[in-house]
Amino acid sequence: MRASVYNCNVIELKKIHNRAGNITSIHGLSEIPFDIQRVYYLYDVPGGEIRGGHAHYGLQQLIVAASGSFDVVIDDGHMKKTITLNRPNFGLYITPGIWRDLVNFSSGAVLLVLASNKYDEKDYIRDYDYFLNFSKRND
Ligand code: TYD
Repeated sequence: MRASVYNCNVIELKKIHNRAGNITSIHGLSEIPFDIQRVYYLYDVPGGEIRGGHAHYGLQQLIVAASGSFDVVIDDGHMKKTITLNRPNFGLYITPGIWRDLVNFSSGAVLLVLASNKYDEKDYIRDYDYFLNFSKRND
């Protein structure tokens, strides 16, 4: 099945309210569409920097603005969509086969990623022209 930006949804996560600070916990399939194999986070991003710039063959991810804000531009080869993340209890689910650029980082932003697999460079598509051909082949 062809990847589509329409299958990448913002998921509202449960927030445990407390006047002394809130908590959000994510276990895996009870909140998101995949089991979590890896957690990583991106931080100390200099102003104006662009991250991402790739797609994955198989990896599923949930991207959360644990602190601050940034925009995620998702692209299925036909259509692009920009999603602003700025609340720690909302995450963007990204399916396989979606190109993403991460832009407009606020100062102090922390981009938290929950991923369905361990790090594997062979799962990356880092060439945009190759990605466009790849997404056409799956039409
Ligand atoms: P990359 O996923 O391209 O970063 P971003 O999408 O945030 O721009 O990864 C950048 C580098 O970090 C790359 O050389 C691989 C390495 N890396 C790991 O070693 N393990 C990981 O889990 C991740 C996500 C990246």
